[in-house]
Amino acid sequence: NEFGLTGTKKACGTGDCGSCTVLLNDKAIRSCTFLTCMADGKEVTTIEGLESADGTLHPMQRAFMEAGAVQCGHCTPGMVLTGVALLKENPNPTLEEVKLAFSGNLCRCTGYKKINEAVLLAAKKMQE
Ligand code: FES
Repeated sequence: NEFGLTGTKKACGTGDCGSCTVLLNDKAIRSCTFLTCMADGKEVTTIEGLESADGTLHPMQRAFMEAGAVQCGHCTPGMVLTGVALLKENPNPTLEEVKLAFSGNLCRCTGYKKINEAVLLAAKKMQE
């Protein structure tokens, strides 16, 4: 709140839902259970840090929009960042690998199908 970065959500507070996901040196972590001092000297990326300086959305953000993978949006920042981290490690995941990577991110609205489709769409577009 102090920095005006409101994308990251505090939800369960126990690291179970994934709404607080941020990237730490390009790896997805649960920020609600991560001690700030452990981030010293490391790069933290929140959803606000994904778009380019000119406002161009990250391919994962565009894919979520194109696939209709957003409803209330509460889980979306964590989902998008989890997807970005997955594609850094595995640029061409299978549907099963996407499902496994997102097993720690809960969504109460979408039923996950469109989120999975968005990640696969982003992977395809990032390889073009
Ligand atoms: Fe509402 Fe995922 S879009 S919780």
